[in-house]
Amino acid sequence: MAEQGRKPLISGNWKMHLNHFEAIQLVQTLSYEVDKDDYEAVDVSVHPPFTDIRSIQTILDADRLPILLGAQHCHFESKGAFTGEVAPEMLAKLNVKLVIVGHSERREIFGETDEMVNAKVKAILKQDMTPILCCGETLDEREAGQAESKVETQILAGLHGVGKEAIAGLVIAYEPIWAIGTGVTATPEDAQTMCAHVRSVVRAKAGDEAADAVRIQYGGSVKPGNAAELMGQADIDGALVGGASLEAPGFARIVKYRLS
Ligand code: PGA
Repeated sequence: MAEQGRKPLISGNWKMHLNHFEAIQLVQTLSYEVDKDDYEAVDVSVHPPFTDIRSIQTILDADRLPILLGAQHCHFESKGAFTGEVAPEMLAKLNVKLVIVGHSERREIFGETDEMVNAKVKAILKQDMTPILCCGETLDEREAGQAESKVETQILAGLHGVGKEAIAGLVIAYEPIWAIGTGVTATPEDAQTMCAHVRSVVRAKAGDEAADAVRIQYGGSVKPGNAAELMGQADIDGALVGGASLEAPGFARIVKYRLS
């Protein structure tokens, strides 16, 4: 169970799914299933594709839903000749609160480097939004005993030049790549070991206050059936949920993990 003071954060990463009509329907259905007690116990964020963000912002405002609006990605520059990209300033104007940075799909498919991830973390913080900094190892790296060092390298590079106070407020998502979208979840013990490692990396870099405050999510095939056990681990403060966030009843069950 997350230490007192670290409010759990359950985030739905919709990836390239759901047009804005489908997205509105999902949020509305979710809002019937999640109630005041849930929002008091857990922060909930949704991360739609860019084309849906304005529509979801309107629904959240109109229905006064305390769901945090998130994005999946952004550029690190404020403006310029970057065809197809979106600036952090544009997201902040839409009341986006959390931005996923360095997801393994962005790193592997779109060639995002640790340097780009670091520049994005800084650009997001500058707009008073919270980065969800992703890290995680491949199966080959895990089997070669390199999981810890891979994650440490990613975190230290992603947080290079970021101050302790800013680090205390951010979210780090540990997502073993072999568990993303595969249906294979890390065991709660393995997930805990790696999330504890993430916290120790933050402790060594930024001190006790930042390490005790930073929220660490686990991601990779989180489902209603395994959420409670994962969330019960000492260093797991939340979940980054892909596939299981695309369907309101299942995502609501994950948000309500504490009742199962
Ligand atoms: P998954 O995706 O829950 O479908 O494994 C998690 C993620 O990529 O954030």
